[in-house]
Amino acid sequence: MSARPFLKISAPLNALVAALGLITVAALTTRDLDPTTKLSLELLLAGVWAVYVLQLVDTVIRRRDKNDRGRTPALVIDLLAVVVPVIGFLIAGSRDQSLYCGIWLLKPLRHFTFFRLLGRVVARAAPNLVGVTSVFGIVLFGASLFAYLIERDIQPDKFGSIPQAMWWAVVTLSTTGYGDEIPMTFAGRVLAGLVMMSGIGIFALWAGILATGFFEEVRRQDFVRNWQLVAAVPLFQKLGSAAFVEIVRALRPRVVPAGTIICRKGEAGDQMFFIVEGRVSIQTPSPTPVELGPGSFFGEMALITGEPRSATVSAVTEVSLLSLYSEDFQMLSSSNPEIADVIRKTAEARSGRAPGE
Ligand code: CMP
Repeated sequence: MSARPFLKISAPLNALVAALGLITVAALTTRDLDPTTKLSLELLLAGVWAVYVLQLVDTVIRRRDKNDRGRTPALVIDLLAVVVPVIGFLIAGSRDQSLYCGIWLLKPLRHFTFFRLLGRVVARAAPNLVGVTSVFGIVLFGASLFAYLIERDIQPDKFGSIPQAMWWAVVTLSTTGYGDEIPMTFAGRVLAGLVMMSGIGIFALWAGILATGFFEEVRRQDFVRNWQLVAAVPLFQKLGSAAFVEIVRALRPRVVPAGTIICRKGEAGDQMFFIVEGRVSIQTPSPTPVELGPGSFFGEMALITGEPRSATVSAVTEVSLLSLYSEDFQMLSSSNPEIADVIRKTAEARSGRAPGE
C-alpha cells in the first residue's frame, strides 16, 4: 500500500499543526518551567518537526511525479521548516534553540493564493502607492522640521534635533499617540492637530488604493474565468466580440454537486442554464429520462413561456453551469436574435409544439 495518503496534509490541518508548533515555541519562552513540562513541550516540538519532514517528502514526490513547477514556494517553505530548526539546534545556545522553530510562521502561507493576488494588486497600484508614500514622507519630514523649530528650546531632550522630533511625527501622523512626547507650546499643538488630520487622510488614501486594486483584480479574474467557460459553449462561439463580452458579463458560473436537484417541476423559473461540464438528467413524462451534456442548455422554457418549470432537472455528475437570468435573457434576445431563435426552436421541439405554433 502506498504511504502517500499519510504524507499529505490538508490546508486546515497544516494551519493547526503550525499553530500548535508556534504556541509550543511561545510556551518554552516562559520563565521557571519545571523540567517535566519543558521536556513535554520539547517532545511536542519534535513531533511537529517530524510531521513537517513527512510533508516535505510529500512535496518532493509530488513535484517529481507531476513536474509541478508551480509549487516552488511550497517546496521552499517546507524545506526551511525542516532545515532551519535543525540548524538552530546545532548552532544556537540551549536557551534560544526553540526560537528557530519560529520559521513555522511561514507554514500556513504555503496554501495561500492570497499573496499572489496581493502581489498583483501592489504591482498594478504601485505608481499611486508610491505617490501617497511620497506625500507621507514629505508630511513626516515637514512635521519633524516644524516641531523641532517650535519645541527645541522648551523640550531639548525630546525635540532637540530633527531625528528626535521624527519619532513624535511618526507617532502623531499614524494617530497612535503614545503620549511620551507632547508639544508644550500653542503652535506645537496646532501643528500636532494638522499632522493628525493629514495622517488620517494619508492612511485613508492607502486603504482606498488597495481596496480598489483588490476589487478590480478580483473582477478581472472573474471575467477571465467566465470568458473561458462561455467560450466552451458552442452556441456562443459564433458571437462577435462585443456580443461575447456582453454575454460573459451576463452569465454567472455555478458548480453543482452530483445528485443535486437544479430545478423542480412546477416551480417558477427565473433563469436558464448552459452546461459547461458534466451531465444532467431531465425527468420527462417518457419512461427514460433525457440526459444533457456539455454545450446543451435547459430551463429555457419557463423563461420563454412564463409558465412553471415543465420538468425536474438533477445533476448526474458534478456539473459546471452558467446561469442566465430572465432580464439578461431578454437583453440577449434583442441583441442576438439568432441565438434567441436557436433557444426558442429548441424549447418548441422539447415541448412537442411545432415552431411558431
Ligand atoms: P423549464 O420548463 O424551464 O425547466 C425544465 C427544463 O427541462 C425545461 O425548461 C427544458 O429546458 C428541459 N426539458 C423539458 N422537457 C425536455 C425534453 N423533452 N427534452 C429535453 N429537455 C427538456
